[in-house]
Amino acid sequence: MKIRILGTAAGGGLPQWNCGCAGCATARRTGAARTQDCLAVSADGTAWYLVNASPDLRGQLLATPELAPAPGTRDTPLRGVLLTSAELDHTLGLLTLREAAELTVHATLPVRYALHSAFPAGPLLAPYTKAGWQTLAPGRAVELAGGLRAEPLALGGKLPRYAADLPGEGWEGRTDWVCGFRFSTADGRASAVYAPGLAAWTPELDRAVAGAGVVVLDGTFSTDDELAGHTGGARSSRGMGHLAVRDSLPHLARHPGPRYLYTHLNNTNPLAHPGSPGTEALARALAAAGAAVAEDGMLIEL
Ligand code: MLT
Ligand code: MN
Ligand code: ZN
Repeated sequence: MKIRILGTAAGGGLPQWNCGCAGCATARRTGAARTQDCLAVSADGTAWYLVNASPDLRGQLLATPELAPAPGTRDTPLRGVLLTSAELDHTLGLLTLREAAELTVHATLPVRYALHSAFPAGPLLAPYTKAGWQTLAPGRAVELAGGLRAEPLALGGKLPRYAADLPGEGWEGRTDWVCGFRFSTADGRASAVYAPGLAAWTPELDRAVAGAGVVVLDGTFSTDDELAGHTGGARSSRGMGHLAVRDSLPHLARHPGPRYLYTHLNNTNPLAHPGSPGTEALARALAAAGAAVAEDGMLIEL
């Protein structure tokens, strides 16, 4: 199995275009930038799937040799897209894929619904490409091209802000607005977990990370009060559907073995700013848990 990490920042990226904070200013000056969270995965190194489609997708695709078309053709190695949420930082890039001859998008039912109503990516794409939509159900694995198996894990009920007023009963309260994936090869020898939005650590996640070679997980905020400390507001990390790094580390300690990589870093997270106050102690805690920060462009081979 191969995983190419395409982007590692939360919505807005690093630097964020309208932010002049010390971290964004440093990223602007040094070029230590991060694009928005998504990755590509392949079981056989030939058939590739995008997991999430960030607003930075065009640049991410062009920077990834594995995703280049065959010479002289429009024959792309991309076989489809899987979504972990309907959030704009995970879905705006779908519109960038409109030149595709065909496009298969795998998403849970509420995510599909949001993308055909409040943010109508489905109807918008229809005149441009032959789009096929597949419904994912938590716990029900799907078999994909190249021998890739993807099991969706229900991870949270947070609706995107733009979908707060969706008509219809029963959308609120569903736990599959946000999901993760456990990927494995057909022979079961390699497996990986991707969970960039993790509201809480669940028993399903305990099961999913057991035996995984790599776990790419939610590193949005370092602590539950990180954002409140920056903005003076009251929004907690957990309240935004993100288990803070300090709160997931104890779970990692219960499951030694996998290589853990934190992704979807917000621009307030000291982990995105090596050398800033508070980074060293946190970096030590990560290292002790077998964890590190994911970097744009990282290639993982399992
Ligand atoms: C999230 O990860 O919580 C969302 O992407 C936040 C947002 O961009 O509104
Ligand atoms: Mn996000
Ligand atoms: Zn900033």
